[in-house]
Amino acid sequence: MGLGTVRCTYPGEAFLLDRRSFIESCGIKAAACVPALTAASALGAHANPKAYARVLLVDEQGQPLRAGALKPQTNYVFHYPYEATPVFLLDLGKPASPQTLSTRSREAYAWPGGVGAKRSVVAFSAICTHQLAYPTREVSFISFRKTRAQRGVQDNLIHCCAEHSQYDPSRGAEVLSGPAPQPLCAVLLAYETKADTLTAYGTLGSELFDAFFLKYEVKLGLDAGPKAKNAVTGQAVVRELDNFCRNAIQC
Ligand code: FES
Repeated sequence: MGLGTVRCTYPGEAFLLDRRSFIESCGIKAAACVPALTAASALGAHANPKAYARVLLVDEQGQPLRAGALKPQTNYVFHYPYEATPVFLLDLGKPASPQTLSTRSREAYAWPGGVGAKRSVVAFSAICTHQLAYPTREVSFISFRKTRAQRGVQDNLIHCCAEHSQYDPSRGAEVLSGPAPQPLCAVLLAYETKADTLTAYGTLGSELFDAFFLKYEVKLGLDAGPKAKNAVTGQAVVRELDNFCRNAIQC
């Protein structure tokens, strides 16, 4: 193992992370991640991080996006790891602590929490885990809500209006209510402290990309053309949801 990597071991399996990514994605010293990893291991099954290309997040002018310039509690969207797979980027305005979560098939994983100066920046695949609703340029049934979308449910959740699944982005997008069977897949971000920039480098949790491409093959072909399934490389443009989508449904 090289000096630049960290070995993370779950029962029966190990994976390597770039040391800097590991530390920065935790947003804290690596040692502070150990309890969450240990807790996940204790559950037995496990979902490993999946590495994709390192992609710098940029603004609509193509300049490196500064994490500090994100408006708190505002929906931002970029596409990763494929050209047609949307991701929510959120500054929650408060630190998000590491969490132990579980996929539908009871695979445990340790979400590393928020990144950035306040450990408040998080990213999740914007594909609802129930029936794969996702934001398009025309309409979005799923988005973050600063104020509660349903009586009796707390504020600051990601809500899917299709059948009212609600996810808590401050807890790794775990499901709080509705028919969604598992958390939104997390997108891993590395934070460069000096430059205040963000780089996506992988996913964690249960990916639904195969089912997504199967379900929306025709639509994605029309919207994104043959590059829909292309891997994103180099950089990804971050837009406010209201700039990306003409009709963000508020239910
Ligand atoms: S597709 Fe989101 S709740 Fe059904």
